[in-house]
Amino acid sequence: MRAVVYSKYGSPDVLSVADVARPVIGAGDVLVRVHATAVGPADSAARAGSPYFSRLFFGPLGPRKPILGSDFAGEVEAVGTGVTRFSVGDKVFGATGAEFGTHAEYVSLSEDAAIAQMPDNLSYAESVAIVGGALTALPFLRDNAHIKRGQRIMINGPSGSVGTAAVQLAKHFGAHVTAVCSTANIELVKSLGADEVIDYTRGAFTEGGKTYDVIFDAVGKSSFARCRNSLALHGIYLSTVPSIGILLQMARTSKFGSKKAAIAFTGLRSPGDKANDLLVIRKLATTGRLVPVIEKEFPLERIAEAYELVDGGHKKGNIVVTVTV
Ligand SMILES: NC(=O)c1ccc[n+]([C@@H]2O[C@H](COP(=O)([O-])OP(=O)(O)OC[C@H]3O[C@@H](n4cnc5c(N)ncnc54)[C@H](OP(=O)(O)O)[C@@H]3O)[C@@H](O)[C@H]2O)c1
Repeated sequence: MRAVVYSKYGSPDVLSVADVARPVIGAGDVLVRVHATAVGPADSAARAGSPYFSRLFFGPLGPRKPILGSDFAGEVEAVGTGVTRFSVGDKVFGATGAEFGTHAEYVSLSEDAAIAQMPDNLSYAESVAIVGGALTALPFLRDNAHIKRGQRIMINGPSGSVGTAAVQLAKHFGAHVTAVCSTANIELVKSLGADEVIDYTRGAFTEGGKTYDVIFDAVGKSSFARCRNSLALHGIYLSTVPSIGILLQMARTSKFGSKKAAIAFTGLRSPGDKANDLLVIRKLATTGRLVPVIEKEFPLERIAEAYELVDGGHKKGNIVVTVTV
């Protein structure tokens, strides 16, 4: 099968398309013919081996997983013995998480992994574009922020993959959403349902004097210290990006003070939890409450361009790679 492989860390030109062996499935496994996959910051980080400490996870001497990519949408090609939830020909979407492997024509995973039937109303490209962002934003908002109807949430970075999902999910939960983005993305985030938009190029979003029950920093560009005065009493600041600062503030605020700081590692949740969330995501997509945002699609052969766009840090929504047309 064709797959995008890499054997050393570096810029997007370490990636190449090669012929590799198709994954072999065992009992309980599902073989998916990948039609579309996505490139996101986690793929970029694994490709670059950056930040340096991430190599402890991705492979200290070189990449442990030669094929990147976590999100996929495709068709079930074969099933192993004992599989009951999927049949050959099913259209499915999901995520392999730290196993990677979706930048390829085929990927195999357990039927108990993060895989579900695709939303009927979406294409492969559209389906893969709601996996990563929503699988991150949903647990952050529901399980960490415990967001409730009528609460005020500020979302920093609402125009990326996580942010575009977060705006829509926060509206679904009945929150009042203030989105903080650059001028170029104001119309996009309004179209997703943001009630108010702050243009970060015109000053710090913390300057307006308003307070929020939840500040969700979807791109980890701010900090608890900067946001503290913008949090309401018992408010919580959540960041997707690990740093020493957020870890220390999380430890401190878990014991002291009425305003909390937290980070979650949603990618490390159990496959069962992710599979359940895929069902929620499918339902929201089917009813039009969660719409995919795709900036650009690339064929597999041009995946390095997709990575360059992601590396720039300003993509709108998702970058999709079509594998099998
Ligand atoms: N903790 C976890 O479990 C977990 C899980 C998944 C992802 N993540 C992390 O979450 C982060 C976001 O992922 P993503 O896929 O949503 O990223 P992304 O799509 O690459 O984010 C791009 C967006 O970030 C916005 N942005 C850049 N600088 C900004 C700033 N200073 N202020 C506000 N917005 C800014 C850009 O909008 P403008 O052009 O308007 O600046 C752009 O639309 C990544 O760091 C990823 O690694 C963490």
